[in-house]
Amino acid sequence: MATAYTKLLLTDLVSSHVKQVPHNYIRPLSDRPDLLNVESNATIALIDLQGLTCEDRSQVVREIGLACRNDGFFQVKNHGIPKDVVDGMLRVAKDFFHLPESERLKSYSQDPTRTTRLSTSFNVKTEKVSSWRDYLRLHCYPLEDFAHEWPSNPPCFRQVVGEYCKNARELALRLLEAISESLGLESDYMEKALGKQGQHMAINYYPPCPQPELTYGLPGHKDPNAITILLQDGVSGLQVLIRNGKWVAVNPVPDTLVINIGDMIQVLSNDRYKSVLHRVIVNDTSERISVPTFYCPSPDALIKPAEAIADEEHPPIYRSFTYGDYYEKFWKRGLQSASCLDVFKL
Ligand code: OGA
Ligand code: NI
Repeated sequence: MATAYTKLLLTDLVSSHVKQVPHNYIRPLSDRPDLLNVESNATIALIDLQGLTCEDRSQVVREIGLACRNDGFFQVKNHGIPKDVVDGMLRVAKDFFHLPESERLKSYSQDPTRTTRLSTSFNVKTEKVSSWRDYLRLHCYPLEDFAHEWPSNPPCFRQVVGEYCKNARELALRLLEAISESLGLESDYMEKALGKQGQHMAINYYPPCPQPELTYGLPGHKDPNAITILLQDGVSGLQVLIRNGKWVAVNPVPDTLVINIGDMIQVLSNDRYKSVLHRVIVNDTSERISVPTFYCPSPDALIKPAEAIADEEHPPIYRSFTYGDYYEKFWKRGLQSASCLDVFKL
């Protein structure tokens, strides 16, 4: 047992048969997931993107706008990422986390400036309570700048993940177009506002947890980026805080992806669209894998409310700032339910 606590990764701690959650993962009583108190009568909109390519476009754009305004979250089907690409991504993610410890540790780093790194929880240097998660974080755009740093085991990793990334970027750009249109802006407004753009990916691995009522896979947080495309395997865990103040499970639906608005679209839309709290709960039987793609501005992009939206009636809520500044604040502060955006309010 003594050796278990010296493990760098949760995966290896769990595989040494912990029967109880180690103390550093236990949340204070006031901050535990109330697993039974989850809204079961509400769901997050499921939008068919097929219509974006035909005469139904304006209807689909309206649906997307409504979902962004109401929940900040929606699911999409017919999203254009081929099934074999999605299945390959999930397969290689699982195979990576099932590699022997010594092989995985080749990617391990606690240095957040590393563009490829395997780590655990969220920010091990600053957080007080750990989260029940290991993650591999990759920069993905431009692909040729980063893919050579990615793990070379499993042998197909770079090829399979690269293919998924290219497809995820196409989808992100289509969604940004629709989101721009839904706000009455030029189709390319959001894409341009993100500057040279960045695309990051996390491959999240949540091992089974002996006492899921004591901890989180990820505590409640809002994503700092522009838009997130989440691929999840067949295991539930994601929950979203909806307008009535209740947590709703976003259970996996085959062949769908989950989309959410991040803090940067909230600013660009001058609060018309909201970046919404979400969290991950764990369970005592199944491991869970999720693959969020974080589409984001480049670090030097100047982010501010779109002038066409912020008018006399709706004065701008935020001052302008660079995404690089924002992200640094987010990372240092850690995952919290209060928004980092307050500092940038006018
Ligand atoms: C995240 C996140 C959700 C999930 O990584 O920011 O919210 O289901 N993940 O893993
Ligand atoms: Ni998130």
